[in-house]
Amino acid sequence: MARYLITGIAGFIGSSLAHGLLTRGDSVRGIDNFATGKRENLSDIAKQIDFREVDLLDEAALSDACRDVDIIFHEAAIPSVPKSVVDPVTSHRANINGTLNLLVAARDAKVKRVVYAASSSAYGETPVLPKHEGMPSDPISPYAVQKLCGEQYMKSFYRVYGLETVSLRYFNVFGPHQDPTSQYSGVLAKFCSAMLRGDSPTIYGDGEQSRDFTYIDNVVAGNILAATAPASQVAGKCMNLATGKRITLNQIVEILRDLTGYKGEVTYAPERTGDIKHSLADISLAQKAMNYTPHVNFEDGLKKTVAWYRTVSSTVATAR
Ligand SMILES: NC(=O)c1ccc[n+]([C@@H]2O[C@H](COP(=O)([O-])OP(=O)(O)OC[C@H]3O[C@@H](n4cnc5c(N)ncnc54)[C@H](O)[C@@H]3O)[C@@H](O)[C@H]2O)c1
Repeated sequence: MARYLITGIAGFIGSSLAHGLLTRGDSVRGIDNFATGKRENLSDIAKQIDFREVDLLDEAALSDACRDVDIIFHEAAIPSVPKSVVDPVTSHRANINGTLNLLVAARDAKVKRVVYAASSSAYGETPVLPKHEGMPSDPISPYAVQKLCGEQYMKSFYRVYGLETVSLRYFNVFGPHQDPTSQYSGVLAKFCSAMLRGDSPTIYGDGEQSRDFTYIDNVVAGNILAATAPASQVAGKCMNLATGKRITLNQIVEILRDLTGYKGEVTYAPERTGDIKHSLADISLAQKAMNYTPHVNFEDGLKKTVAWYRTVSSTVATAR
């Protein structure tokens, strides 16, 4: 049985990953500083995990957290384009300094593999679709630069120190437990909770921007594949983790009208700095390298997501 460490375990993806690993019977340690994560995301598994309130910038605590760990899922970050535009220095510290600290601690503790939450924002505003890993990166926002820098560090630590690293470029992950309450939340979390409350969803731009929205269960499954695939297939690689399909925000609002019963207007606001127009992944590399297939399609994922937001309070959607 492998021993796992999840950074950012109190967040949306980290806590979902923890639940997925525990279901398999794996042993899970987790760290978080609650910058955006929620204790409620861990309430039902608190007794089954070794949780430590640790900041990625605390090198001593990080090195302690890496002790006796086989595999790390590095999810902790300040995961927001607009936040990085407002305050690039704070994002930089968490996303770049924090990632380097983690890699050093992992190397020194002789951890076998680090699986890193990279981001499709690394591709930038290239008009070529679908986006494949061989394309030149062209990050726009400070957040995108930071996530790309993390990937480069992953690759470097594999080449220089032999620490197995795998970077997974997520494309707009959504699902239950994504926090809709912050102004920086993911768009689907905000749409679902607003429309269920009977409030108008806000679209920045004309709504024709499209994304490869990926349901959380696909991301959890992809991470577990990246952690368990033979090193010869995945180590030192960077792979898209998505569905290979895209949908516009206007189309999503129409589907959500059906699922939520919302009959009101949609609010259109000016485009946000650093946002990209279209995003679509080529997932053939992950399919080939680690046999990845997205098992939950967008519509089914959205139904499960709406069902979950329906069960939680209209403003605070965190209890699991
Ligand atoms: N959600 C997406 O669509 C998406 C897309 C691309 C990449 N990602 C990446 O996936 C990862 C997880 O994203 P998420 O959506 O679950 O976000 P989230 O905000 O729910 O989770 C991030 C977690 O990291 C923790 N954290 C932040 N700074 C920390 C620090 N200095 N020390 C310790 N913990 C810290 C937060 O408290 C939070 O629990 C991030 O690295 C993000 O960049 C997410």
